[in-house]
Amino acid sequence: MGGNGVLAAILAGDTFKYYSEGEWQVSSSGKSVPIINPTTRMTQFKVQACTQEEVNKMMESAKNAQKSWAKTPLWKRAELLHKAAAILKDHKKPIAECLVKEIAKPAKDAATEVMRSGDLVSYYAEEGVRVLGEGKFLMSDSFPGNERTKYCLTSKIPLGVVLAIPPFNYPVNLAVSKIAPALIAGNSLVLKPPTQGAVSALHMVHCFHLAGFPKGVISGVTGKGSEIGDFLTMHPLVNCISFTGGDTGIAISKKAGMIPLQMELGGKDACIVLEDADLELAASNIVKGGFSYSGQRCTAVKVVLVMESVADALVKKVNEKVGKLTVGPPENDYMRIAWEEPFGPVLPIIRISNVEEGVHHCNASNFGLQGCIFTKDINKAMLISDAMETGTVQINSAPARGPDHFPFQGLKDSGIGSQGVTNSINMMTKIKSTVINLPTPSYAMG
Ligand SMILES: *[C@@H]1O[C@H](CO)[C@@H](O)[C@H](O)[C@H]1NC(C)=O
Repeated sequence: MGGNGVLAAILAGDTFKYYSEGEWQVSSSGKSVPIINPTTRMTQFKVQACTQEEVNKMMESAKNAQKSWAKTPLWKRAELLHKAAAILKDHKKPIAECLVKEIAKPAKDAATEVMRSGDLVSYYAEEGVRVLGEGKFLMSDSFPGNERTKYCLTSKIPLGVVLAIPPFNYPVNLAVSKIAPALIAGNSLVLKPPTQGAVSALHMVHCFHLAGFPKGVISGVTGKGSEIGDFLTMHPLVNCISFTGGDTGIAISKKAGMIPLQMELGGKDACIVLEDADLELAASNIVKGGFSYSGQRCTAVKVVLVMESVADALVKKVNEKVGKLTVGPPENDYMRIAWEEPFGPVLPIIRISNVEEGVHHCNASNFGLQGCIFTKDINKAMLISDAMETGTVQINSAPARGPDHFPFQGLKDSGIGSQGVTNSINMMTKIKSTVINLPTPSYAMG
């Protein structure tokens, strides 16, 4: 167990507290949920098994807090986010250690995830003051049949309470990518971290607590999906859900009410390799894209479609590189081979005789997150990119999310809405218009 002072502040005995109404609390259920270390297969941590009643209290506090938070000046909201970002970076080491123990993330990647998250929170604060500090001014005479008698002023207003549900593979980064846009836009936020990754996420929430956010503006709930899962996503006080994960997202979208949803549900990313590709570059990217973090990334390469004429040469290079991969504990930064089969390193390589076959294979999938093309012919790459039914196409690199301000979205079953800094801020706001009605020009002119 992490015995340092910070973690002690959010621990009760051997169980981590949950965060509600601006305080770290112990659930009245008297029950906990164990977090198994995937490397040792032993219980590493325990978190509170919260009750529905506790969720209700948290939601009410979030609802109330949001009203005054929305009236807090934008620059002040940004200032608090910058402060939280700095504290998060200061806590890099203990949070990264949690990530290694909870989700078997290699130590170096775990530290990177925390730093990247701090940078992201700051970037959201900066972008937020620009995006939210601007409105629109429209005049009525641009639409047929109207005189210039109406002026419309638009601004962006918050939605209310945003529910954030990040996945186990990036429990800190994909939590702040939901928290920061929600908060800068004047929403309050309730975080339900994945069980695997919950302690890292709670520790991150503690950084927001230390930054001094008003009570109820941010909350963190833990517990059993069977007890509070549907209860949270169908809660009448929730005004927006931002979810990253697997199939459960489809069930959530069917049960959620008439509220905006931002969903990223994974992919089956295809990699198309043409005859003129730099095969060395393609092979390294395929191995990196297919096997890093044991393939447990939604943007992992799941299938390679290679032109017949270069297939043997590519397979040889891929095999050589796979042979050099090492397996070991994540503390040593070795590549860890799958501990969850369907979301792990399996990499089929299919030979194609023309580009259309590759595109057809890519488009036949129900998923449409990302795809990649290796070729030196930029014209061909652009045409193939247009034909691939995926939210993003990478040219001459493995699929990946980021930099974090780039739009990130899936087509088909891969999701709803687009992420990325500006898109997430816009998604977590509504447009409010005020129309000034003037007297008719003839009257005014006398
Ligand atoms: C994707 O491929 C399918 C099958 O080859 C094709 O019918 C479809 O038009 C393609 N989509 C786009 C956007 O070109």
